[in-house]
Amino acid sequence: MDRVSSLPETVLCHILSFLFTKDAALSSVLSKRWLNLWKLVPNLDIDDSIFLHPEKGKGKRSEIRQSFVDFVERVLAFQGDSPIEKFSLKSTTIPVHPDCLNRWICNVLQRGVSDLDLFIDCTDDDFNEEGKDLPKELFLSKTLVKLRLRSEICVDWYYRGRGASLPMLKSLDIDSSLIFFNGEMKDFLPSFPVLEELSMTNMEWREMDITMSSASLRRLSLHGTGCEGGKRFQSPKSVSFDTPRLFLLNYSDAVAEDYPLVNMENLFQARINYIVTDKVIKQVRAPNDDWSDDDDEGNVVLRFGNVVKLMYGIQNVQNLYFTANTLEVLSLCCESMPVFYNVKFLELEGDEGRGWQAIPDLLRNCPNLEYLVIEGLLHYVTDKCGDFCDCIARADKGRSLTSCPVTTLEIRGFKGTMREINMIRHFLRYFRCLEEVWILPKEDGHTNFENPGVFELVEKILNLYDELSSCDVVFVVDNHMRRKWIEQSSLQV
Ligand SMILES: *[C@@H]1O[C@H](CO)[C@@H](O)[C@H](O)[C@H]1NC(C)=O
Repeated sequence: MDRVSSLPETVLCHILSFLFTKDAALSSVLSKRWLNLWKLVPNLDIDDSIFLHPEKGKGKRSEIRQSFVDFVERVLAFQGDSPIEKFSLKSTTIPVHPDCLNRWICNVLQRGVSDLDLFIDCTDDDFNEEGKDLPKELFLSKTLVKLRLRSEICVDWYYRGRGASLPMLKSLDIDSSLIFFNGEMKDFLPSFPVLEELSMTNMEWREMDITMSSASLRRLSLHGTGCEGGKRFQSPKSVSFDTPRLFLLNYSDAVAEDYPLVNMENLFQARINYIVTDKVIKQVRAPNDDWSDDDDEGNVVLRFGNVVKLMYGIQNVQNLYFTANTLEVLSLCCESMPVFYNVKFLELEGDEGRGWQAIPDLLRNCPNLEYLVIEGLLHYVTDKCGDFCDCIARADKGRSLTSCPVTTLEIRGFKGTMREINMIRHFLRYFRCLEEVWILPKEDGHTNFENPGVFELVEKILNLYDELSSCDVVFVVDNHMRRKWIEQSSLQV
């Protein structure tokens, strides 16, 4: 007996369950004992792109399809009705008849699978549309705890009959540009009474009014494609959240016209990314110009005014993250922004095409801020950001910084330009409570450090700031980066 075979059965099963099913099946050819262990493996991971490594088009050949189908059916038959924990099925390369896929899915559902991961995109002219619905058993499983559905075409959350009911489901992850709901969107979440984690990615909404209502939900990631009118589907007109236990919100989509209800009083962390076009940004910057005959989208000030309702809804957060687009959108409602009493950690993003007009008011409304991250110091200069940075001369320069209690400032994506260095000097001067400044250079893409001598000069200046100011200024560069930039510049000299 070899060393592997002498391991206890539970250990062998554990090893088998980490292999792709095909590899595990091959290893079982080695010995009879392995073959019997097969029955006890609690995880199956079937991926048709690994199976036979089919090249493009080759998968259509009927014998490859047949041997793939035979393989899976043999594995399932061999396992009989032994319990299974996890089943992962990727069928995007070799077109398998939907009835066949559904039979496999039903097989594992009957065996009490708790974790199901399906990536099924079989489009084959051989199969008519009729059979592509997911099996009804999936919508009524009493054992599913975790469900992941991926598709590059669409996910049909639909079965002919009554609504879905998944009483044990805790985590649902749908990644598809289209989801067809059975009936109304508002009936979707109530099918999962204990759901804690929901992620919907790449969504193109077909509904005009979205309601997310769940008494159990803790984590919610909504990532729409944010496409404005003119495309196939519009962004939703209204979005409501009735999620009193929500802990984490990760929201990225076009601005909705209204947020009628935002109930998330226990929220700890929020990341808001509004997807807006350059054209809309122009309107945001000159809201009083007449944009009306451009198209009938209406005045952005009116259209985006309700963003403030979302801000009031998330105002209990401790960790808050706004992207550069969101900061521009917020500039329309600076005066009505809520006070974020609990925010200790704030992360803001800079983008050379987006302005920071909202930052002065935002900082004033975070009276207990401890940690500020700025990802990218470069931004579009406007007449109002001077209150925060030193882009333009004005009498009240730096006003919003002097009352800010932040003790740690972290700057990411530093490119080593004079404009950024001046901004750091400005922060050191006006943030009164600052104890530490961490500066992390941008590692990839174009930076000023590629120019000869710049890295050494920037490091000298920052060291000088460290000596002269009362707080610690740390330029975080590892040896690899240092070597790269110093060598690069000596080559060019
Ligand atoms: C939120 O979503 C973004 C974009 O998909 C991702 O990069 C980020 O890691 C997410 N954050 C959290 C806390 O899930």
